[in-house]
Amino acid sequence: MNYKIATLPGDGIGPEIIEQAKKTLVAVGNKFGHTFNFEGAYVGAIAIDKTGVPYPDKTHELCMNADAVLFGAIGDPKYDNDPKAKVRPEQGLLKMRKELGLYANIRPVTTFPSLLHKSPLRKDIVEGADFVVIRELTGGIYFGDKGRSEDLTSAFDNCVYTTEEIERILKLAYSYAAKRNKRLTVVDKANVLATSRLWREIAQKMDKEYSNIETDYMFVDNAAMQLIQWPKKFDVMVTENMFGDILSDEASVITGSLGLLPSASVGVHTSVFEPIHGSYPQAAGKDIANPIATVLSAAMLLESLNLLEEAKAIRKAVNMSLEANVVTEDISADEKAHKTTEVGDWIASNI
Ligand code: IPM
Ligand code: MG
Repeated sequence: MNYKIATLPGDGIGPEIIEQAKKTLVAVGNKFGHTFNFEGAYVGAIAIDKTGVPYPDKTHELCMNADAVLFGAIGDPKYDNDPKAKVRPEQGLLKMRKELGLYANIRPVTTFPSLLHKSPLRKDIVEGADFVVIRELTGGIYFGDKGRSEDLTSAFDNCVYTTEEIERILKLAYSYAAKRNKRLTVVDKANVLATSRLWREIAQKMDKEYSNIETDYMFVDNAAMQLIQWPKKFDVMVTENMFGDILSDEASVITGSLGLLPSASVGVHTSVFEPIHGSYPQAAGKDIANPIATVLSAAMLLESLNLLEEAKAIRKAVNMSLEANVVTEDISADEKAHKTTEVGDWIASNI
């Protein structure tokens, strides 16, 4: 089969890690008889530099016409310390999510035995943790009205959710729980927020329809605590946009595998696959960034195209590279750290 893959490397280490994922997909294509046609486009700070806007129409068109999008990372320090910047790379990401209708961000959190010593948690707490965080991605405080009062002494960000938005993300979360261990944790702040009370009301209704799934409810502050105390007790966790932003970052570091974890954003139009880590500007151009999270994002991309054996081949080659310690400096077990490109070549040649 032929597949059109839009590649959006973005900023920082983005271009280097996307290159390794492309190599891997080419190797998969050769082995399984597929052709992946890659076409690249700008997003983020680089897009602002080149075109003046962080998510150009041309990029959007390419994504709309692709079978899947492989995304690197966005963000540049020159914007981070300038709260007054009129255009920001992050706006590109939010626009992309909205325009592609990517209402769900899915982050599987798994442990890798060789990396448990990197976890900030005790090995017995984290070993074997295996859960998925599902974050609502196109609603809530991120997309509500925001602004400043005329005299500039106050500011506001509205948090809005509609019944429809809540139902569709919960439905998706239930479908994940059904495929896994049949437990769903709905995280909210229903003791304080009106939007959370609507979430809980809807979830409690749906809860009855999905009687084969065990649903429980947790306030977000409690969830933040339980995630580090008993990460193993979670199966699927679903929550709104802002809570999900925070909890999914927390979840991603507890296994010690930040550089290894992929994610998918799915919804109405083309799905987007990206590593969970950021643009790591300090490492840009140095050939030291860990490409594995992006390579595993390519595996998730293949799964979304129902190319399951192909995805398995990637996962297997990645596990082999970890076992052989053909890895970058962030996770290397000895002094012999490998370069980004070496790890990419090694994985591709072991497909
Ligand atoms: C993420 C990021 C983004 C977000 C930023 C870069 C806008 O933190 O993908 O989690 O807050 O959604
Ligand atoms: Mg985030």
